[in-house]
Amino acid sequence: METKILKIDENNIDSLALKEAGEILKRGGLVAFPTETVYGLGGDALNPESSRKIYAAKGRPSDNPLIVHICNMDALKEIAAEIPEDAIRLADLYWPGPLTMIFRKTDKVPKETTGGLETVAVRMPSHKIAAALIEAAGGFVAAPSANLSGRPSTTSAAHVIQDMTGRIDMIIDGGESEVGLESTIVDFTEGAPVILRPGYISKEMLEEALKKEVSFDRAIIDADCKTAPKAPGMKYRHYAPKGELSIVEGEGDKVIRKINELTSKYEEEGKKVGVIATRETAGKYLAKTVKIAGSKGDEKETAHNLFKILREFDDEKVDIMLSESFNGAGVGVAVMNRLLKAAGHQIINV
Ligand code: TXA
Ligand code: MG
Repeated sequence: METKILKIDENNIDSLALKEAGEILKRGGLVAFPTETVYGLGGDALNPESSRKIYAAKGRPSDNPLIVHICNMDALKEIAAEIPEDAIRLADLYWPGPLTMIFRKTDKVPKETTGGLETVAVRMPSHKIAAALIEAAGGFVAAPSANLSGRPSTTSAAHVIQDMTGRIDMIIDGGESEVGLESTIVDFTEGAPVILRPGYISKEMLEEALKKEVSFDRAIIDADCKTAPKAPGMKYRHYAPKGELSIVEGEGDKVIRKINELTSKYEEEGKKVGVIATRETAGKYLAKTVKIAGSKGDEKETAHNLFKILREFDDEKVDIMLSESFNGAGVGVAVMNRLLKAAGHQIINV
C-alpha cells in the first residue's frame, strides 16, 4: 500500500487536504493524524472493518479496545449509554483536551472497536487538525497511538513514518505533539471514578474538579498486583525500546555515581550505553550518549521528550539505557508510569 504524506499547518488548515483525509476515513481507510498527546492511527469508529484494519496495521491484539475520538458533545450522547454528572463536569473543564472517559456503550459502537467490551472509551482532542479531521470523517474516529504495537508511542510524523509507511493510506504531518504522553483515562462504569492510565490531567486536577477522591486502578501503582489492569492495553509490555532500560533511583550524587559506574562496566564489555538525565545533571555523566529529558522538576518538559528519546536510542542502536528517576506529583506520575513500563519495572536502588 502506498502511504501518502501530507503536511498541514495547524494554524492555517488546508481544507481541501483535510477533506481528502476525511474521505479516506469515510471509505474505510486509515489516516494517522496529530493530536496534542501523541499521534493517532485513525479509522471510522462505527465501521467494524476499519477497526479490524487498525489492529492489523499496528500488529495489536484485537482484545485491546480503541478510543473513539469525537468533536462535540452531541456525539457523546450517541455512543455513551449513560453519562454521569461527574463526566459532564470533567468534559466541561478538560474537553477538548488530553482526557479519555469510559462509559457504557450504545449499539451504535461496534464490538470490533471496543475489543469486545460493552464499554467505550471516548476522547475529544484539542488539536485543531484532529478536530477538523474528526468532523470531516463524520464525527467518530477510532484511534490508538500510531505506533507498531509494543513500540513507544509516536510524538512526531517522523515516528509515524518509521512505523506505518506501507501499512496505512495517509499520514498527516502536523508537527510535534505538545504533551508527548497519551491521555489520562478515567473510568465511570463502576460508580466512583477510577484512573486507568495516568496522564497530563493529573489525579489532583480530577479531584479538584470533582470535589471527591479519585483513585488509581491498583494495577497501575502496584507492579506486583495480581489482578489485571482494567484498561486491557496497560497489561501489555509497552513502550519497549530495543535496548535494555533500567531506572536508577536514590539520592542525587549516588545516582550519578552508580550510573557512571555501570556505564564504565558496560562500555568495557563493548556495549553502547545511553543515559537519560536532567539538564542540571547531564554534564556529570561519562557515557558517550547522554540525553536531556528536561529541567529538574519540569515534568511537563520530560513528558514531552520521553518517547522521542526512547526512539532516538533505538535509532542509535544503544544496548543499555540508564535513566534517572522522575518522581513527582502531577504529570510526573504519568512520566514515571511510562518509564517503568519501558523498563519492564527494572529499578536499581542506591
Ligand atoms: O492520547 C491518547 O489517548 C492517544 C491519542 C491518539 O488520542 N490514544 C491512545 O490510544 O493512547 P491507545 O489505543 O494507544 O490506548 C488506549 C488505552 C488502552 O490501554 C486500552 O486498553 C484502553 O485505552 N481502553 C480503551 N477502551 C477501553 C475500555 N472500554 N475499557 C477499558 N480500557 C479501555
Ligand atoms: Mg498505545
